[in-house]
Amino acid sequence: MLSQETRAIIKSTVPVLEEHGTAITTVFYKNMLEAHPELLNIFNHANQKKGRQQAALANTVYAAAVHIDNLEAILPAVVQIANKHVSLGIKPEHYPIVGEYLLKGIKEVLGDAATDEIINAWAEAYGVIADAFIGVEKEMYAKMESQENGWSFFKDFSIVRKEKESESITSFYLKPADGKDVPAYQPGQYISLRMSIPGEQYLFNRQYSLSQAAQADEFRISVKRDADNDPNGRVSVYLHDEMNVGDRFEVSAPAGEFVLDTEKTTPVAFVSGGVGITPMMSMFETVATLTPERPTAFLHAARNESMHAFDKDIQKYVATMTDARYKTFYSDQPQGYITRTVLEEYVDITGDVYVCGPVPFMEAMIQELQALGMKEEQIHFEFFGPAIALQTV
Ligand code: HEM
Repeated sequence: MLSQETRAIIKSTVPVLEEHGTAITTVFYKNMLEAHPELLNIFNHANQKKGRQQAALANTVYAAAVHIDNLEAILPAVVQIANKHVSLGIKPEHYPIVGEYLLKGIKEVLGDAATDEIINAWAEAYGVIADAFIGVEKEMYAKMESQENGWSFFKDFSIVRKEKESESITSFYLKPADGKDVPAYQPGQYISLRMSIPGEQYLFNRQYSLSQAAQADEFRISVKRDADNDPNGRVSVYLHDEMNVGDRFEVSAPAGEFVLDTEKTTPVAFVSGGVGITPMMSMFETVATLTPERPTAFLHAARNESMHAFDKDIQKYVATMTDARYKTFYSDQPQGYITRTVLEEYVDITGDVYVCGPVPFMEAMIQELQALGMKEEQIHFEFFGPAIALQTV
């Protein structure tokens, strides 16, 4: 428990740290990665280049510090981040490294203004926050290990099938190299792929949603090929162009909180844009298989017909369901957007809606759904990439 005095120091210094946020986090990452280059095997190099992850981590530490008296209040945000951490194999011994360099960053940027008193208070607060993460992550790892066919950290998988779904999206079917089955997962969860790419010094990690309902013996991911010059697209380009049946990489166990509540039979709608369709496929297939009488709407926005993945699969499932409606919108065409009128027509606002796609698409959809009267707890969504602004914190 932090003393009253420590808490007062923390709260009074948060605004100063936020003000110097970018400078502190830039120094923090630069120094940490210079001293511990092995961490480049974990961190997304492209995010580093864009400075996005820097902001996400440090801002969360500051935001958590404000709630230091009541970390319970930010538990949902901690759990979401912890899912990402366990998917990447973050270990307790990594926390003191991050803490050390974050404090050094604060000291370097604030100079004399960072008194020993302030630094000590932040060291204490970081310790409390780190312990909260370590505790949640320990439980998650234990759960992964205890699941039938489960594992923690990484395990070798090989590609058993590779199928083109659209001009830019290709599915990869993956099986454990040890011949075992895979654990059951919740529709909407993701896995991390970890691989070395020839000519690159460090390993690459990327998360991909599982794109089919849970199967006993295989995973499926469906990957959009990014542009050749997009640093964040390095893995997707390598997968599309170089990886084929029989090739191997490491995979972490399914994680993530953006999941379908399979117990419910109330109306549900899936609204996706572009490759955001992937977790929706897993959820939709699950509804079609487990509760085919559930009132369901599937709305999808793609650029044009050639970029539209899974059309036939969705139609096939719709045909087996009692009350399912499906419509696609091509943004290259007039009236090619999912508007409030469309949502009003298709989404039963008494039920749940799942939204996934590019950030501007999701923001627009969430805003419209709220305008139609849907409440926060009925709208489920997941942003791709680092959670830049965590409303809950
Ligand atoms: C992702 C916070 C400790 C490695 C994130 C994200 C946040 C965050 C907010 C973005 C989540 C998302 O994308 O949904 C924190 C906080 C920490 C902490 C508050 C300390 C209390 C660590 C440690 C490591 C680590 C100790 C490992 C050395 C990562 C990595 C990502 C990540 C690799 C994925 C993004 C990327 O690759 O750039 N963390 N983190 N974090 N964190 Fe942490």
